[in-house]
Amino acid sequence: MPGSLRDVVFVDGVRTPFGKAGQQGIYAQTRADDLVVKCIRELLRRHPGLPPERVDEVAVAATTQIGDQGLTIGRMAALLAGLPKSVPGFAVDRMCAGAMTAVTTTASGIASGAYDVVIAGGVEHMGHHPMGEGVDPNPRIVAERLVDTSALVMGQTAENVHDRFPQLTKDRCDAYAVASQRKLAEAYAAGRIQRDLVPVATRSQEQGWGLATSDEPPRPGTTLDDLAGLKTPFRPHGRVTAGNAAGLNDGATACLLVAGETATELGLTPRMRMVGYAFAGVEPEVMGVGPIPATQKALARAGLTIDDIGLFEVNEAFAVQVLAFLDHFGIADDDPRVNPDGGAIALGHPLASSGVRLMTQLARHFEDHPEVRYGLTTMCIGIGMGGTVIWENPNHADYRKEQLAA
Ligand SMILES: CC(C)(COP(=O)(O)OP(=O)(O)OC[C@H]1O[C@@H](n2cnc3c(N)ncnc32)[C@H](O)[C@@H]1OP(=O)(O)O)[C@@H](O)C(=O)NCCC(=O)NCCS
Repeated sequence: MPGSLRDVVFVDGVRTPFGKAGQQGIYAQTRADDLVVKCIRELLRRHPGLPPERVDEVAVAATTQIGDQGLTIGRMAALLAGLPKSVPGFAVDRMCAGAMTAVTTTASGIASGAYDVVIAGGVEHMGHHPMGEGVDPNPRIVAERLVDTSALVMGQTAENVHDRFPQLTKDRCDAYAVASQRKLAEAYAAGRIQRDLVPVATRSQEQGWGLATSDEPPRPGTTLDDLAGLKTPFRPHGRVTAGNAAGLNDGATACLLVAGETATELGLTPRMRMVGYAFAGVEPEVMGVGPIPATQKALARAGLTIDDIGLFEVNEAFAVQVLAFLDHFGIADDDPRVNPDGGAIALGHPLASSGVRLMTQLARHFEDHPEVRYGLTTMCIGIGMGGTVIWENPNHADYRKEQLAA
């Protein structure tokens, strides 16, 4: 029917192993755009039934859009990856939710009929582009007290979330962080993480050529005792530490989104159907609470409640903001539906790339849990926002029944 919206399905997601930012990190001498190229090439390799010329758009997010993350990175990465010159691309920025926004924006284009096939993802090389590089905040922000100055330092916003919710103690955050490390280690041991990684050739002046095949940041075996005495870099006697926060990382992600009817035409298997999404703003100085209103809004628009959600992928920028989200919805700190294979505290958070990392992991959990019908991916966003995308599991019996009936 002309004008009707089309289904959008997530076919596949991949990412580079995440590295530690800095001179000693695995990607110290690797370009950011080359990390994106690896992801795009891997999607094409995994789906030989997709003619490259059928890709209608390449949307790539980066928070700092200069140097090797500049020059309209979606377009440059498409060219560098060998996609036909007829395939356009663009760059996206919504800080930590860059890749999430690349997905929601292009998904809306698929739904409305502008695209059949898109590649969406993100990259952040925080070693080459430290947070805040080149920013020039308007002096009115401070002069007119539009936001508290702490709003510009993410770790300070996390301390503010602690102030606002005193029940979110450092002990609870450390316990959450230990669990994130443990769950990731278990997932690695079971081979669940490796499935979505694309190996990246690396080079180092000291060590020569190498191959990155696994994440660099995890610290398996982390204990509460290890975390108890760590410094609190964002406030004297604070609660946020390197152990209960995501680190500074390099990495890229990309996913393949297509119209439901195009998936059928090209023989691509849907691994998630997008149900809906929402972004919401909050006070910038407590940006960590952003996922709460974003999730409320996304659920309301989808006609669902939190009880309908069987799996959660919550970005772990800081343990305290995850716990604020869980507390709000009455979910236990150790609920097995939440980040079953750990999260950013253990494996890293290369800002603009992480949204697709969450989606890729949710798609894997859906495969393992056909009894779950709906899941969500959510994240907090700098300058006071949250983003949530709700997904349906195509492995669920009711989804299959409805597809057959349609
Ligand atoms: C918190 C932060 C400042 C720490 O940076 P850092 O000092 O470079 O971090 P390091 O990895 O060197 O860790 C600091 C110390 O904690 C220790 N540590 C970190 N995690 C640990 C763990 N799980 N177990 C034991 N020790 C740990 C390190 O060994 C190191 O110890 P050292 O000082 O004796 O060498 C930085 O990671 C950060 O800014 N994170 C937030 C990123 C962010 O804002 N993202 C956007 C979100 S919206």
